Amino acid sequence: MADLGADKNAAYVTAYSPSFLTHFYDKYVLGFNMSFMWGCPVDTILLPFFSENFSRNHLDIGVATGYFPATALSRPFRRDSKQHLTLVDLGPNPLRAASARVLSVATATEVRCIEADATEPPPESLRGHRFDSISMFNLFHCVPGGKAKLRALAEYKNLLSEDGVLTGCTVLGHAHAANWLTSLYLRWYNRRLKVFHNWDDRKEDIQEALESEFEEVETWVIGTTMLFRAKRPRQPLVDV
Ligand SMILES: C[S@@+](CC[C@H](N)C(=O)[O-])C[C@H]1O[C@@H](n2cnc3c(N)ncnc32)[C@H](O)[C@@H]1O
Repeated sequence: MADLGADKNAAYVTAYSPSFLTHFYDKYVLGFNMSFMWGCPVDTILLPFFSENFSRNHLDIGVATGYFPATALSRPFRRDSKQHLTLVDLGPNPLRAASARVLSVATATEVRCIEADATEPPPESLRGHRFDSISMFNLFHCVPGGKAKLRALAEYKNLLSEDGVLTGCTVLGHAHAANWLTSLYLRWYNRRLKVFHNWDDRKEDIQEALESEFEEVETWVIGTTMLFRAKRPRQPLVDV
């Protein structure tokens, strides 16, 4: 299926409008779709997975409403503690929505917002920074560009601290659809709505990209969703 590379930034900034984020995103995208279409519920699978890998010095890439960091930070043992959170997204609307939500539940959090494309080298303002955890939740299925979009792993792995962990999840393409309804829904999202770009996304390709960038990789497929956790970024061999 043809993938749309052009105007991807403009399309995302338009799709993630303040009203879509406020009124639909959590209930429809995270509630209905994750549970009933992609077979990977947020409350029992994705939120525990996020929270388990969420450090006090965290970088979240592709943020939408900030549901995951805000919910993790709203726990009584988290909300008053010292927390640094950097948010990266293509558009200003998700950054505004996510930072406001985080600060509404965890006022002591130091939040930094950066507008950037995750498939490009990290902006100057992030160079030299190290994070104990990085998340890419529900990011890749939204990004056009076939396997090339997975270079976000290579671009951001060097921002991990020595024992840092990168986690994420993404809805896989038609080869992994659980049934005809999922397949139809995927087609609709890719061809009609054009907000997904994952028709050809395969677990094997994502696994291979992860293994070529990290020494330690774990993956799981739940429903049509792939979860991943990676540690110890591989470094280029240096001749001595
Ligand atoms: C489906 S939402 C996922 C949000 C959140 N992580 C979650 O799981 O609820 C995808 C987010 O990624 C952002 N995004 C899409 N392509 C991106 C890119 N190339 N670089 C950075 N952010 C991107 C969108 O603007 C949107 O906020």
